Amino acid sequence: NLSNMMKVAVVGGEGIGPEVTAQSQRVLNWFAVKRGVPMTLREAQYGIIPYLATGKVMPPDTVEAMEEADAILWGATGGPETKEVPAAARKAGSLLGLRSKYDLYANLRPIVAHPALSDSAPLKASVLTGVDFVIIRELTSGIYFGEPRGIETLADGQRRGFNTEQYTTDQIRRVVRAAFELARTRRNKVCSVDKANVLETSVVWREEVIALHAAEFSDVELTHMYVDNAAMQIVREPRQFDVMVTGNIFGDILSDCAAMASGSLGMLPSASLGPVDRFGRRKALYEPVHGSAPDIAGRGIANPLGSILSVAMMLRMTMNRPEDADLLEKAVASALSGGARTADIAEAGAKRLSTQEMGDAVLNALDNVA
Ligand code: NAI
Ligand code: MG
Repeated sequence: NLSNMMKVAVVGGEGIGPEVTAQSQRVLNWFAVKRGVPMTLREAQYGIIPYLATGKVMPPDTVEAMEEADAILWGATGGPETKEVPAAARKAGSLLGLRSKYDLYANLRPIVAHPALSDSAPLKASVLTGVDFVIIRELTSGIYFGEPRGIETLADGQRRGFNTEQYTTDQIRRVVRAAFELARTRRNKVCSVDKANVLETSVVWREEVIALHAAEFSDVELTHMYVDNAAMQIVREPRQFDVMVTGNIFGDILSDCAAMASGSLGMLPSASLGPVDRFGRRKALYEPVHGSAPDIAGRGIANPLGSILSVAMMLRMTMNRPEDADLLEKAVASALSGGARTADIAEAGAKRLSTQEMGDAVLNALDNVA
């Protein structure tokens, strides 16, 4: 039945993006073949390679693949500051532009501490045990998009860079709504993070959160935290959080910090969701939280689990296959407890798997747990 066939655009991108995405694509294929999940995959290029061939980092074929897709599996963008891609060409096909184009306002970043990783994690096992929370980062507004912005030269010859932090009622309410709704499916707790003691945007943010909570979500336990304290609490006692919701820049920084509660940045998946249309569908982009990691790109040693776990999020949120999502998460946990380790999560002296071998370990685990 073609109508329930989910279309997935697979865009590896740059740096370690294509390396990790190759493994998550194998996992997607496994679910199509072994579990009959109805999907078609369309690979498309992004970044320096299509730029050199066509002059565009995001060529028309890629735009079309993403346009028709229900879900985009994205790798990474960015790399060493080469002169090869001029800033304007980069900007014309940027990831920020994509988030904006599809109005992908809700960025979900689950942080789970796998017991098997407690020996190699930067935080103590006693801090990590039982950590399981989700950061929801607003992704289409705030200081990354606010106008005016620019760099100007002042009368005295100094340069001045400036950006604008801003949030409107609607922008706050829709992402906070997503947080309350998600909390109801979990431990029913939302922590809203802002800087309301200093920033007007945060004053509006906090007041809107309180109003929405009172009007529609008073059954959910709500707390507020200043962002600097939140950074500290994520390291001190990450177990206290269930769903954390915050603006664009705070969410960007806090989620890299929270990555340490899962052992490695390479472990973290994410989903970026757009508005629900009148057919009940929503555009979604799934990607690991990490970037293109130029320091290790091309060596086949990157951890593919952030990308693979993004496939679990896709199965759950776009394909409505919660059992298959659980299956994949179990397979990853089983591969880890079986000792599978890429370099970033390996203890000193332990055997280090390549990116491809970690993909093998997850596929083997899938065959065993299925
Ligand atoms: P990064 O996330 O690429 O790397 C940070 C550190 O984590 C590096 O030491 C890297 O080796 C390590 N790391 C990241 N992913 C890993 C993985 N899967 N396995 C093992 N180790 C991993 O961030 P960085 O270095 O700040 O940025 C590099 C480039 O990526 C920049 O051009 C940046 O703009 C871009 N970027 C792109 C993102 C995206 O495509 N969504 C997100 C973040 C950064
Ligand atoms: Mg970031």
